[in-house]
Amino acid sequence: MIELKDVSRTFDSAEGRVEAVRSVSLTINAGEIYGIIGASGAGKSTLVRCINLLEHPNSGTVTVDGQELTALSPKELRVARKNIGMIFQSFNLMASRTVLDNVAYPLHGRNMSRQQVVDKVRELLRLVELSDKENAYPSQLSGGQKQRVAIARALATDPKVLLCDEATSALDPQTTLSILELLKRVNRELGITVVIITHEMAVIKEICHKVAVMDQGRVIEEGDVFSVFAAPQQLLTRQLVESTLRLEKINSLVEEDAEVVRLAPGEQLLKLKYLGSNVSDPLISEISRKFDVNCNIIFGNIEIISQTTLGTLVLIISGYPDSVSAAIQYLIDNKVEVEVLHHAVS
Ligand SMILES: Nc1ncnc2c1ncn2[C@@H]1O[C@H](COP(=O)(O)OP(=O)(O)OP(=O)(O)O)[C@@H](O)[C@H]1O
Ligand SMILES: [Mg+2]
Repeated sequence: MIELKDVSRTFDSAEGRVEAVRSVSLTINAGEIYGIIGASGAGKSTLVRCINLLEHPNSGTVTVDGQELTALSPKELRVARKNIGMIFQSFNLMASRTVLDNVAYPLHGRNMSRQQVVDKVRELLRLVELSDKENAYPSQLSGGQKQRVAIARALATDPKVLLCDEATSALDPQTTLSILELLKRVNRELGITVVIITHEMAVIKEICHKVAVMDQGRVIEEGDVFSVFAAPQQLLTRQLVESTLRLEKINSLVEEDAEVVRLAPGEQLLKLKYLGSNVSDPLISEISRKFDVNCNIIFGNIEIISQTTLGTLVLIISGYPDSVSAAIQYLIDNKVEVEVLHHAVS
């Protein structure tokens, strides 16, 4: 549905040249929810604005739904853009117009009667669950409701692609979840390809099928969300993943040599990662019995990502050195990833 080939975008300003997007190539398939994550200034907004050519790439090609946008005339581009809806962190609603008129706005200039427009808007407001607000003004709505109006407006032209630039960043966690649910429904029920920009891995985990990680204008890692969470390749990705799995806390406790992770001679601090079905296996009680080792669980977390479970456990294991080694080998044989965070030599 979306293909970027070698897209670059630089800005020249008084302070010099900024390479906001550097030679990015991406393929986003029809029907996917695709996340782009990265720190502030990484180039996410610039990249996504290159998809609808709000930002013209300096080089490279952008193809959406089989049409190379970078080769179109301005007039052809205006038509092609109706295929691409966009929503923003700041909602961008027109304050002096009602909800109904905001959503109707993209339908201006179409060959539709007022009644047809109103019918279409009401159908969209039903979809975003705001049927009772059609005569309200934006100032009378909550942030979540404003974003629902913006989504309805973005869908008015029946786009095939919806671009979301930090669409939930201004919202509280509960409202964020409800907007993400709505985006999932838009994807599933209308078959719209959704591109989500965020700086929160939790958003990616909640709704995306695929993810690209951006750093300094480049895509440094890309893949399906579960694989990236289970085996992040780049340091930045690993940090992002660990922060959502709340593992960074353990790392800092180890660094600070905090009481809870302090080891007696012979003890080891292990981080275990379980993938898929073996999460439910009673491996810890098994190794305690089989190898006569003690396991003191410090931290545990189970995530369900794309319907697959990913478990993390941090524990202190103790016992005779041979038993501990055998127990660790048993875990590895059972497809548990074992990392020794700290080993107190006896
Ligand atoms: N119109 C512009 N003129 C000059 N520089 C720009 C312009 N737009 C973006 N930049 C620069 O390009 C770089 C990438 O900006 P961009 O907005 O794409 O980042 P981002 O990843 O979306 O960040 P954030 O998470 O803060 O929204 C930044 O260094 C920014 O200052
Ligand atoms: Mg941005």
